[in-house]
Amino acid sequence: MTPAAPDAPATAWAVEPSGPLRGEVRVAGSKNAITKHMVAAVMGSSPSTIHNVPDVGDVGITTEVLQSLGVGVDLDGDTITITPGDEIVPEVPLRYSGLNRIPILLLGPLLHLHQEAFVPVVGGDRIGARPVDFHVDALRAFGAEVTETEDGVRAKVAGRLVGTQITLPYPSVGATETVLLTAALAEGRTVLNNAATEPEIIELALFLQRMGARIELSPGRKFVIDGVEKLHGATTRLEGDRLEAFSYLVAGLVTGGQVRVGGCAQERMVTAISTLQRMGAELDINDDWISANAPDGLRAIAIHTDTHPGFMTDWQSPLFVLMTQAEGMSVLHETVFEDRIRYPAMVVQAMGGEIELFETCLGGPACRFHDSNAVHSAVVRGVSELRGAHVEIPDLRAGFSGVIAAAVATGSSVIEGVHHLERGYNKPLETLQSLGLRVARTASDPATATSTRPGA
Ligand code: UD1
Repeated sequence: MTPAAPDAPATAWAVEPSGPLRGEVRVAGSKNAITKHMVAAVMGSSPSTIHNVPDVGDVGITTEVLQSLGVGVDLDGDTITITPGDEIVPEVPLRYSGLNRIPILLLGPLLHLHQEAFVPVVGGDRIGARPVDFHVDALRAFGAEVTETEDGVRAKVAGRLVGTQITLPYPSVGATETVLLTAALAEGRTVLNNAATEPEIIELALFLQRMGARIELSPGRKFVIDGVEKLHGATTRLEGDRLEAFSYLVAGLVTGGQVRVGGCAQERMVTAISTLQRMGAELDINDDWISANAPDGLRAIAIHTDTHPGFMTDWQSPLFVLMTQAEGMSVLHETVFEDRIRYPAMVVQAMGGEIELFETCLGGPACRFHDSNAVHSAVVRGVSELRGAHVEIPDLRAGFSGVIAAAVATGSSVIEGVHHLERGYNKPLETLQSLGLRVARTASDPATATSTRPGA
């Protein structure tokens, strides 16, 4: 498991042009589900076991966070066992500030166990402001007294949290998870409207149901949860990571190769698959595998990211690189995070990709950033000849874009900041090597790299 230590020695990756990437990748359980399951398990009265756990840094970080609270976490291969402690310390230490998005999800569960809790400011990829106002408003609706401090969020409740009616201003994944986790043990009924229904959320709801929660998913983005007195431990096996699955399909396509991805069900990939088909890719799908190639080349596309079942925002970064290798002008409109588009764009631009960014809503319906000055649309010209570069990647998804851009570029590249990749991808170096990418760890020298951080 990649350690969480923020002061771990920095390494970089040296990438050489490698020709078409080919082979098979079996993706593990999803990064965006495992950590939430770990949080849910804290509320059980007995241990929970989760199988198909990915080897990603976020699991290491969450393990350390839970252990610091007095929760037992044991990892054996790809199975994790969470043993809720008798003496929970309801304060997430400040050293876990800014590492990932998990601490904020702990507030509701900790309030159930301890009536008072503190979590440091949440982290995660640098994609937009990423406020936590929906979480805070939801917890207040359950009856918690919440104070936002410079360091984080402190909350307390007199007695038990009470079920409530909540309508999210936007179907936020994290806020939906906060409500599900908090409602499960709250007194009485909670009705959540305008909820996110991403596959990872449904997985969390199913896990909570196994733990004894009474959760109903109603039509029209609505959850109804009847709080119970007690949850018990449960066992589950995570579904495959759809972000990784898409990333590796694109790694094959962008290099003119073919990658076969197993371990992620087709139903989690419907929009990804239809998008690749619209670009001219040929998909071969069975119950075990999804494979993509493009013997006749790729064509441009206009697409906007959206909540599930739309084209997910995390798929946007690899798609950027693919667009540089598709014939014609492609348009990408990011409607979920107002700032996310700039990160992969800067990485790909640093490697010669022809990308123009816009504040307007291009290539789709006007989104909620329509009247803001957020840069959230892009026009990508293909086919661009990418060239090797020494770049520092700014986040997880944009980081993968940098690596696959380097794979198709002429000349050598050095990718700095690869800890971002190891936080979210399962053994990314080994997996890419197995597909034929000439990539190796090398000494880090970020001072001479092109920074791809907007504003840097
Ligand atoms: C999760 C995923 C991330 C994915 C995203 C959208 C994890 C660890 N991360 O992030 O990979 O890209 O869902 O599918 O699961 N918002 C607010 N106030 C809030 C909360 C959210 O304004 O309190 C806004 C955000 O700024 C953003 C939008 O809601 O514009 C969606 O964010 P959200 O769905 O909450 O994303 P995360 O849960 O952070």
